[in-house]
Order: sequence, then C-alpha cells, then structure tokens
Amino acid sequence: MSTTPRPDRVTLVEVGPRDGLQNEPGVVPTDIKVALIEKLAAAGLPVVEATSFVSPKWVPQMADAADVMARIARRPGVRYPVLVPNLQGLDAALTARAEEVAVFAAASESFSKRNINCTIDASLDRFAPVCEAAIAAGVRVRGYVSCVLGCPYEGDIAPAAVAHVAQRLAAMGCFEVSLGDTIGTGTPDATRRMLERVARDVPMAQLAGHFHDTYGQALANIVASLDIGVTTFDSSVAGLGGCPYAKGATGNAATEDVVYLLQGLGIATGVDLDALVDAGTWICDAIGRTNASRAGRAIAAKRARTAQAAA
Ligand code: HMG
Ligand code: MG
Repeated sequence: MSTTPRPDRVTLVEVGPRDGLQNEPGVVPTDIKVALIEKLAAAGLPVVEATSFVSPKWVPQMADAADVMARIARRPGVRYPVLVPNLQGLDAALTARAEEVAVFAAASESFSKRNINCTIDASLDRFAPVCEAAIAAGVRVRGYVSCVLGCPYEGDIAPAAVAHVAQRLAAMGCFEVSLGDTIGTGTPDATRRMLERVARDVPMAQLAGHFHDTYGQALANIVASLDIGVTTFDSSVAGLGGCPYAKGATGNAATEDVVYLLQGLGIATGVDLDALVDAGTWICDAIGRTNASRAGRAIAAKRARTAQAAA
C-alpha cells in the first residue's frame, strides 16, 4: 500500500440537483431546482451538476432539464454539467447551451441493462460518437462508471472490469472519470485496491470518487482515496439522492460532511460551509425531506441554540 501526501486543495462536484433530485419520489418543481442550483453555486461550489437529458419515460424527475438550464443564472467560473445517455440527449444539451456533459457507463452488465437498457460494450459504442460530437462542439465530457465497488444485481465487481470501462471512457476523450460506488457497499481497503488497479490504466489525477453513503462508508472511502492521490470528489448537499435503478441506495456523501472533513484536514475547497448548510436546510424544508448531513444538522442545531441563548 502506498500513500501520497494529501493535496492542499480538492475539487468538489456537487451532484445534489441531479443525483439527489432524480431519486425523489415526487417531481420537484423547476423553481426549486433552479433556486437550489443557484444557492449551491453561491456557496462556492465550483461544479454543480444541474440535470440530466435522459428519457423522461425512464426518469420523469429530470423531464424539465431544458427549463432548468434556461432558467439558472450561470455564475462566471462555475461549471454546470449535465448527464447525456446518447446523441439525442447531447443534441438537447447543446441546444440548452450546456458547456459540459457527462456520459455514464457501468462496470456491471446487469446494472447497465437496467439503467440504460444496453450492454456495457453497446453503451461504450454509443458514447464514442457522443464524445466526438461534444468535443467538436467545444463541450467537455466527463465519464462515469457505476458499480465500481459492488452491484445491486451481481454483487462483487472485479477492479479490472472497472479499469476496462474507465480506460475506454478516457480513450474516447473524457477529461475525468468519476468512479461510482452506486450502492455504497465499498470500504476503504476495497476502495484503495480498486483505485490502484484503475490508475494503472487511467492516471489518478484524472479520476474522481463518487461514494454513495448507504453503508456509512463514504467519508472513510474519501480519506482512503485522498491518501492515494484522488483530488476530485462528488457529493450531494444534505446527502440527497440515490439511483432509481439501484433500489435502497441512499444519497452521496453529504457535501456539508465532506467540506467539514476537508476543513479539518486543512484542505481547501473554496466552499463557504455556513452558506452550504443554509442551502441544505432550505432544500430539505422545500421538499419535506430529512437532512441526511450529520454536519449540516449539527451546525444548524448549534446555531439555533446560540440564537436562543442570545434571545
Ligand atoms: P431506450 O428505451 O432503450 O431508448 O432507453 P430508445 O432510444 O429506444 O428511446 C425510447 C424513447 O425514449 C423514445 O421516445 C426516445 O425518443 C426517448 P418515444 O419514441 O418512445 O416517444 N429518448 C429520449 N428522450 C429524451 N432524452 C433522451 C432520450 N433518449 C431516448 N436522451 C435510454 C435508453 C438511455 C434513453 C434510457 O434508458 C435512459 O434515459 N436511461 C437513463 C437512466 C438514468 O438517468 N439513470 C440515472 C442516472 S445514472 C446514475 O445515477 C449513476 C451515477 O450517479 C453514478 C453512480 O452513482 O454510480 C451517474
Ligand atoms: Mg450516483
């Protein structure tokens, strides 16, 4: 096991408005989505994944993707990537003036079939022209690999299978490959083994961690990843989310918890934790959901106690 010095700075990719809200039982009104994206960008998140241009039959929660993109006030310097599963999605994303898109593959055949209705190879064949067209249009492409530490249908996934898909995505021009522990079953040693194997094919600097927190392992897995050189992590405000095609999976690592962790490690993110906690409290109130961020709840409760004591 090798460790590298921890970085001074980490890039956080906020996925709550997409990964979070795609999984809400009801459709969240567009106004609320737009306000959430703007609050997250105002809190200093450098990347806010805004929505998905996917089939509304498959994910009705994201059917308003074009409206969301039309209505957000884009802050200079903030990136607003969107998911696209095919050329149809890319065309719609380009029409909506997206400047960054993400294609999403899986390391598990069964998950690929359930999530995007095709085999892994077919999905990669489908993504190649998407990447080519996006890059030709001056749009950056991120790649996702799901089920990197386990699959809801197949169980264990070999790190070599993850490496294969990550390598194919990088080869077709993805500037970064986000490795998704979709069902949150991974633990730190498994995370490290998987990352070390993938990094033989794709440089560690090009990899991002996307840890769902279903088993409470996300922060531990982030620290394990930091220790071997990963410097980009996806997270979701208030721990919103899951995946409609991975039943029982909960949200990503809560952004508030990740920022609190990184602050404690002396690692900069550019995020204003107080403003982020406000955004998390706000969205939970707006959609009637329990806040899954431990740090968010603790900070909000402490503020309330302080305000009460001062009154
Ligand atoms: P399909 O049914 O095989 O597609 O679905 P199709 O090409 O046969 O088209 C069927 C219908 O969908 C047609 O409409 C198309 O026009 C329409 P109809 O003629 O029946 O009226 N359609 C579209 N409409 C809008 N936008 C599009 C689009 N494409 C087709 N882009 C497909 C295949 C990929 C489209 C579908 O399976 C799909 O949309 N899947 C998306 C599933 C999804 O969004 N999952 C969640 C995101 S992934 C995730 O959360 C994991 C991640 O967070 C990482 C991790 O945690 O692991 C990223
Ligand atoms: Mg996810």
